[in-house]
Amino acid sequence: MKEIEIREIIKKMTVREKIMLCMGKNSWRTEDYPEYGIPFIRVSDGTNGIRFQKDSDKAPLPYFDSSLDVSFDSPEALERTVATTCYPSGSAMACSWDKELMQEMGARLANECKSMGINVLLGPGMNIRRHPLTARNFEYYSEDPCLCGDIAAALVNGVQSGHVGTSVKHFACHNSDNRRTRVNVIVDERALREIYLAGFERVVKKANPATIMTSYNQINGIEMNENSRILRDIVRDEWNYEGTIVCDWGSCKDIAESTKGGMDLQMPGSLMSAEKLEKDIAKGLVSEELLGERAYHVLKLIFKYAGHEDVENDQKANHELSVKAAAESAVLLKNEEDFLPLHAERTQKIAIIGRLAKEPLYVGSGCAIVRTEHAEIPYDEIARVCGNQAELLYAPAYEADGTTTEALLKEAEETAAAADVVLVFAGSYLPGESDMYNRTSMSIERGHEDAIRAAARANENTAVILMIGDVTVMPWADKVKSVLCMWYGGEGMGSAAAQLLFGRKNPCGKLAVTVPEKEEDTPAYLSFNQSPYEMFYGESIYVGYRYYDKKKIAPRFPFGHGLSYTTFAYDNLQVVSEDDEKVVVSVDITNTGSMEGREAVQCYVASGKGHMEKPVRELKGFEKVSLKPGETKSVSFVLEQRDFSSFDIRNNEWVTDTPDFMVEIAASSRDIRQSVAVKRPVTYKPFKKLAKNCGFHEMFENEVTKKMFFDFAVEHGLLPREMVSEKVKDQLEFTFWSVRSYMDMNAHGMVTMDQFDELLDEMNKALAE
Ligand code: BGC
Repeated sequence: MKEIEIREIIKKMTVREKIMLCMGKNSWRTEDYPEYGIPFIRVSDGTNGIRFQKDSDKAPLPYFDSSLDVSFDSPEALERTVATTCYPSGSAMACSWDKELMQEMGARLANECKSMGINVLLGPGMNIRRHPLTARNFEYYSEDPCLCGDIAAALVNGVQSGHVGTSVKHFACHNSDNRRTRVNVIVDERALREIYLAGFERVVKKANPATIMTSYNQINGIEMNENSRILRDIVRDEWNYEGTIVCDWGSCKDIAESTKGGMDLQMPGSLMSAEKLEKDIAKGLVSEELLGERAYHVLKLIFKYAGHEDVENDQKANHELSVKAAAESAVLLKNEEDFLPLHAERTQKIAIIGRLAKEPLYVGSGCAIVRTEHAEIPYDEIARVCGNQAELLYAPAYEADGTTTEALLKEAEETAAAADVVLVFAGSYLPGESDMYNRTSMSIERGHEDAIRAAARANENTAVILMIGDVTVMPWADKVKSVLCMWYGGEGMGSAAAQLLFGRKNPCGKLAVTVPEKEEDTPAYLSFNQSPYEMFYGESIYVGYRYYDKKKIAPRFPFGHGLSYTTFAYDNLQVVSEDDEKVVVSVDITNTGSMEGREAVQCYVASGKGHMEKPVRELKGFEKVSLKPGETKSVSFVLEQRDFSSFDIRNNEWVTDTPDFMVEIAASSRDIRQSVAVKRPVTYKPFKKLAKNCGFHEMFENEVTKKMFFDFAVEHGLLPREMVSEKVKDQLEFTFWSVRSYMDMNAHGMVTMDQFDELLDEMNKALAE
């Protein structure tokens, strides 16, 4: 529908009708107005599959106590949840580094949504994974905004190509789940722009998501929904975002301030808020025009996404894709002596240790839980691959709650000792989705770790298969030959693991986050568990590998790391073309091993010394290539000026502050294979506005204001004209006082404060021209 037609409808609606249009009728649908031809849309979680509870889009019971049973993953809640396809968690999918796969998964999700009458899918979750203990990190992609933004953009493009809307969430800095609606993030502007907003900016520019979901937390003391500087000045004006801004469920704490701040759709609906806004509009505290703007954004969404053609949900194709996705995102972290793949025909007895082999952990919890009827069992899939070529032994090793006993460990040890090779299944569970939700430890479950140690003691031919939502510390990794991380790998994880372990598929996932040696090494270690009322992002832009690299801390496994059963050579990196806007480089990748494989090729930029401090290197692009043995393919990267820029807080703009950069092509952030020097135009500028307390060095950065100062000094008899020189300029710049204080102390009444203020005003006018 055209803008003018939508505006006509809004004109006809009463204030109350517009208010009710801009909030859910309940948690999962919007209001409809047949008299104006306005249909409703239905929304549903989640991030790695659809979570939709039967009849949840019907009106809720009007009793307070009916709200008390809020769990999403209790057995009763799951009973009501419709069975759908469960893909690997976001933390897994990002390890695929595969944009095409994300797009394909998006298209399948759209189809499944349509078959259920869902118009907007509430995902992807794409917060930066600042600290590994954040409980909901399993929903998110990466510690890096380029990987995060491009993976999310591919998914959004896939879903929206199927004419279903998306909701990129949780915007922004939602990096801790303890007291999540009270967290006040204290973050500096550069980190905000370069790290925490950058992924969202990428997805807005590359995929135009239908909605952006604001987060529960405050940023620097301001609630996200009320943050007009971020929502209006940055998202709307700088990024030109024209979609709908929806609040996270129950995150709107003041409807009047949120209306001013830039939130469009309040979810779920609230009669309390509706009444408050109606009164505030009547009193003139909030303008009806602002409500009209909200209604416009909500109607645009509704008219674009309401109503679908009937589609068939191809469950079999979905499941096949979930297997492919699980295999592509699995990361082979360690593989001593090429222990994997196993060869069933050369192996007589395989010990499968760990209850997770039969009761796999394949999905996260809370609103990202997905109920599937097709979850594969790793043990069964291994048995299928082995056929009658090998004998499988089994010991559970630990209880369902992750604890173990001496008897269970003894049995595991004996089983491992009796086998030729041992596969230990281990992982880490999530805490219940309460108000204190973060993980409390970076270790895998205690009983699982004991099981690994027991098996490794009994048999040196041991591999570990991990099912984790985010990284854990792995002190036990030195004791085993191989570690294969399957993450929360979704319903297809069982056969994906079996195929990878026995070489039917070649591992090709790479880490989307760093695996530290110990928790104390993590960038946010000192602030993560501080008070939620003031969570200080002291590491600034040094998040993830940017921190480990700068501090020269060796991680256990670096960002971008992942092994394969084949090997790849990188050659012939060259600058194909360069102009003021972009640089294009290409590099040849050859499969030098004997098995077909896929390689995630990474492109980093390392800056020369400029005006600003920089990370050692930053990811700016990536491509995944498939190669047969002996095959070579050329991969290119287009690097725009922005890829060489940093956010200059002095002038509030992106700048290139040095001409010198290296473009590095790498197999991981610590495995740079090829590099080439490039020159870029410098865009760093002198101060564009002088603050009241500016210093001489700021005033003299610009020739115009420098001249104005010396003319002023001469005019008021502070300096004779012949004394004006570079030497005096240097002397003034050497002082640490602000210009104002210096004049105050040394002008001896020859200049009044008003005259000085006028000079500053004149200077700022000249700078603005
Ligand atoms: C979560 C969102 C989710 C919404 C609806 C909120 O509590 O933070 O991620 O989409 O609930 O379930």
